[in-house]
Amino acid sequence: MKLLGTLGILSIGLVLLTIWLLPGSFSAKGTPSDLEVTLARFARHWATPSAFRDANNPIPVEPKILADALHHFADHCANCHGNDGSGKTPMGPNFYPPVPDLRDPMIQAMSDGELFYVIHYGVRFTGMPAWGNGEPEKDTESWKLVHFIRRLPHITPEEVRMMKTMNPSTQAERDEQEALDRFLAGEDFEPAAGHHH
Ligand code: HEC
Repeated sequence: MKLLGTLGILSIGLVLLTIWLLPGSFSAKGTPSDLEVTLARFARHWATPSAFRDANNPIPVEPKILADALHHFADHCANCHGNDGSGKTPMGPNFYPPVPDLRDPMIQAMSDGELFYVIHYGVRFTGMPAWGNGEPEKDTESWKLVHFIRRLPHITPEEVRMMKTMNPSTQAERDEQEALDRFLAGEDFEPAAGHHH
């Protein structure tokens, strides 16, 4: 049985390798084929340690917890995933594979433990970063985010509006704010060439 599983994973690996060795296939342009998506998901499902796959979310679902997670998502995840989880962000579609719609049944079908594992360890060869760093508080944060991902298919326009106020601002917006603050504080504007002091 164990041998069959190993052979299965090896043959999936062989097919993926063949797809990846085709000319141009290390570019991040384009969309993965259905075959590549299915095989990669299947391989990842089995590559997730079963202790994680079957783990239950240790954090209770409470309004306070969901509010925390909403804030955290708006701050750390929304620039790629969008406040509503749709993945429709300026960057989202340019990853290979593209940022998925987290409301999609395919994602919602993942177990809590699998979602935790993705958030905590990231996904190799994709744009999805790892967020865990071994501190227990980070574990808690990741489990809270799992609750929030479950909430995304039912997110309300009011929640999305609130999240917009929590999104990190861009460098340009911060520069503009700083210039405005200085102007209001009665300081002169720096010349456009900008020397720093
Ligand atoms: C730099 C961009 C970026 C950021 C920031 C980011 N993600 Fe992702 N995320 C991705 C990409 C790209 C994928 C697609 C990976 C894949 O298809 O396997 C992804 C996939 C996922 C998935 C689905 C995994 C799967 O099996 O398809 C979940 C869940 C997820 N991200 C949660 C989060 C959470 C929660 C955060 C914030 C803590 C976050 N992401 C921050 C880029 C990002």
